[in-house]
Amino acid sequence: MLVSTTVLLLSLAPSCLSIWPIPRSLDLGDQILKLSDSFDITFGFASPPQDLLDAATRTRNNIRSDQLGRLIVGRGSSDSDLFGTASALSNLVLDLKNNDSAARPIKVEAVAALSVRDEAYSLSIPADGSPGTVTANTTLGLLRGLSTFEQLWYTFEGIIYTSYAPLNIFNDSPAYPYRGVMIDTARNFFQVSDIKRTLDAMYLVKSNTFHWHITDSQSWPIQILEFPELARAGAYSTNQSYTPNDIQDVVTYAAERGIDVLMEIDTPGHTSIVGASHPEYVACFLSDWITFAGEPPAGQLRITNMTVANFTANVLGAIAKTLPSTLFSTGGDELDMPCYAADEATQKTLKETGKTLFDALDDFTATTHGALHALGKTTVVWEEMVLEYNTTLRNDTIIMVWISSNDAAAVVEKGFRIVHAPSDYFYLDCGAGGWIGNNPTGNSWCDPFKTWQQSWEVWTFTLLLYPATGNLRLIQANNYFGLSNLGQGSIRTLEHQTRI
Ligand SMILES: *[C@@H]1O[C@H](CO)[C@@H](O)[C@H](O)[C@H]1NC(C)=O
Ligand SMILES: *[C@@H]1O[C@H](CO)[C@@H](O)[C@H](O)[C@H]1NC(C)=O
Ligand SMILES: *[C@@H]1O[C@H](CO)[C@@H](O)[C@H](O)[C@H]1NC(C)=O
Ligand SMILES: *[C@@H]1O[C@H](CO)[C@@H](O)[C@H](O)[C@H]1NC(C)=O
Ligand SMILES: *[C@@H]1O[C@H](CO)[C@@H](O)[C@H](O)[C@H]1NC(C)=O
Ligand SMILES: *[C@@H]1O[C@H](CO)[C@@H](O)[C@H](O)[C@H]1NC(C)=O
Ligand SMILES: *[C@@H]1O[C@H](CO)[C@@H](O)[C@H](O)[C@H]1NC(C)=O
Repeated sequence: MLVSTTVLLLSLAPSCLSIWPIPRSLDLGDQILKLSDSFDITFGFASPPQDLLDAATRTRNNIRSDQLGRLIVGRGSSDSDLFGTASALSNLVLDLKNNDSAARPIKVEAVAALSVRDEAYSLSIPADGSPGTVTANTTLGLLRGLSTFEQLWYTFEGIIYTSYAPLNIFNDSPAYPYRGVMIDTARNFFQVSDIKRTLDAMYLVKSNTFHWHITDSQSWPIQILEFPELARAGAYSTNQSYTPNDIQDVVTYAAERGIDVLMEIDTPGHTSIVGASHPEYVACFLSDWITFAGEPPAGQLRITNMTVANFTANVLGAIAKTLPSTLFSTGGDELDMPCYAADEATQKTLKETGKTLFDALDDFTATTHGALHALGKTTVVWEEMVLEYNTTLRNDTIIMVWISSNDAAAVVEKGFRIVHAPSDYFYLDCGAGGWIGNNPTGNSWCDPFKTWQQSWEVWTFTLLLYPATGNLRLIQANNYFGLSNLGQGSIRTLEHQTRI
C-alpha cells in the first residue's frame, strides 16, 4: 500500500490533489462530476444525532460558498469543456455500519480515550451521478468522511464540480492518533471567535486535539467558580478572560468538529501570575527576571509547601472536572533552579525535611496528578519532567517532546508515550523574531528561523527514528501503526511538502 500510494502521488503531483492528508487508500478517476443544484446529504440509519446533522449542513454550505478554484493554470477553464456532458451528484448517504439504534453524538466519540477512538471511514463516489456513500462504525468516522468529501469540490464560473470521479477511499484512518495544535492564550489573549476559526481549520485537515495552554506567568485568563480571585487579579482585563460558559462553548464546538480539548495549566513553573492573588504561594515573585526566570515576570509555585501543593491540586481538579477530555496537562517545563535556590522558604523546608528539591517536586506532582487521576484523567507533561527532573510519573503519562526532536528517543526508552512537538522543527512563534533579545531585526529563543522545508522534514525525522530505536511509541493504540504507518505519515504529507 505504501509503494502504490507513492506512485499515485508522483503521478498526481502536477495536478495538485486537494485532499489533505492523503487517505491510506485512494482510488481516483479523472472524470468530471458536477454537484447537482439539488444536492443533499442523507442518512442510511435512524435518528442521526444533531451534531452530525449540523456537520452535514455545514459541509453542504461550505462547498457552495467557498468558491475554491482548482489549483492549476486557468483555474479550471480546461475542465469547463466537459461540464456539458458530465453527470451530477445529487445525493451523499452517510451510513453507520454497526446499525446502532442509538448512534452516539460526534461530541461524545471525539473525546473518548485515544486508544478506543475510531475515526475510520470509507468514501465512494461513482462517476455516473448515482449516490455517493460514506460508511463508518462511528459518527466521528462519518465526520472524517465529510471533511474528505468537502475537499473534493472546485468552483468554476458558478459550476461546482470534482475532477476525481469515480473515487473510492477504503477504510481511511489516521497514521497518528494524536494530531494537534497548541494555542497559548496567556501571553496573548484570543477571543472565543478566533479559537473557533482555528478549530474550523483543524476540522478540515482532520486535526483532532486542541492543546489549550490557557495560563502562563503573564496572565490567568480562566475564570474558575471555586477560585474567582485567580482571574480577577490575573486576567489582562475582565474582557480578556474565559467564563465557564466560554470554556464549555469552545469544548463543545471543538468536539462537534471531532476535536478533543487538552487543557494545560502549566505548573509549577510559569506561574508568576498566581502571585497576583496569592503572593505567599510564589517564590521569587516579581524578582529580577534576568536572574530568576527565562522571561519576565519571575515567579513560580513553592513546591516544598504542602498548602501550595494542595491548592494547586484543587485548582486543577476544579477545572478538570468540568472538561470531558480524558487528558489533562500539568505542564512541568522550565523550572528555574536559581529561583528555588534563593527562596528562603523553600530552602528552609528542604533543610527541615532533609529532602532534595526533586524529592519535593515528586511530592508536589504526586499531589497534583493524584487529584487528576482521581477524576479519571490521564496526565500529560512536558519533557523536562522525565529527562531533567526524573519525576516519578505513572507509566500512562503522556510526554510532550518540545525542546528538541533529539530528545524523543530518550523519553521513549523510559517507556512513555510521546507527543512529538519539537521546537527545532515547528513552532509558529519561531519565525518573525521573539519579544526578548537584543536584535531589533528579529531573533528569538528558538533561532534560527524555521523554513517550511524544515518544518515538513519533521516527518522524515520520524521515519528515520523508528528503526533506530526499535520501540518508538508515538501515542497510540497498538493497532494504529507499525513501521509502514510511520512511513505513511510521511507519505501522506509529501505532496504538500513538495508544494511548499
Ligand atoms: C439500519 O437502520 C435503517 C434505519 O432504521 C434500516 O432501514 C436498515 O434496514 C438497517 N440496516 C440493517 C443492516 O440493519
Ligand atoms: C467497522 O467495523 C468492522 C467490524 O465490525 C470492520 O471490519 C471495519 O473495518 C470497520 N471500519 C469501517 C470504516 O467500517
Ligand atoms: C470590555 O468590553 C466592553 C464591551 O465591549 C467595553 O465597553 C469595555 O470598554 C471593555 N473593557 C475593557 C477593560 O477592555
Ligand atoms: C506554607 O504556606 C502557607 C501559606 O503561605 C504558610 O502559612 C505556611 O507557613 C507554609 N508552610 C511552610 C512549611 O513553610
Ligand atoms: C493537603 O491535603 C491532604 C489531603 O486532603 C491533607 O491530608 C493535608 O493535611 C493537606 N495539607 C495541607 C498542608 O494543607
Ligand atoms: C536525572 O537523570 C539523569 C540521567 O540519569 C541525570 O543525568 C540527571 O542528573 C538526573 N537529574 C536529577 C535532577 O536527578
Ligand atoms: C503500565 O504498567 C502496567 C503494569 O506493568 C502495564 O500493564 C501497562 O501496560 C503499562 N501501561 C503503559 C501505557 O505502558
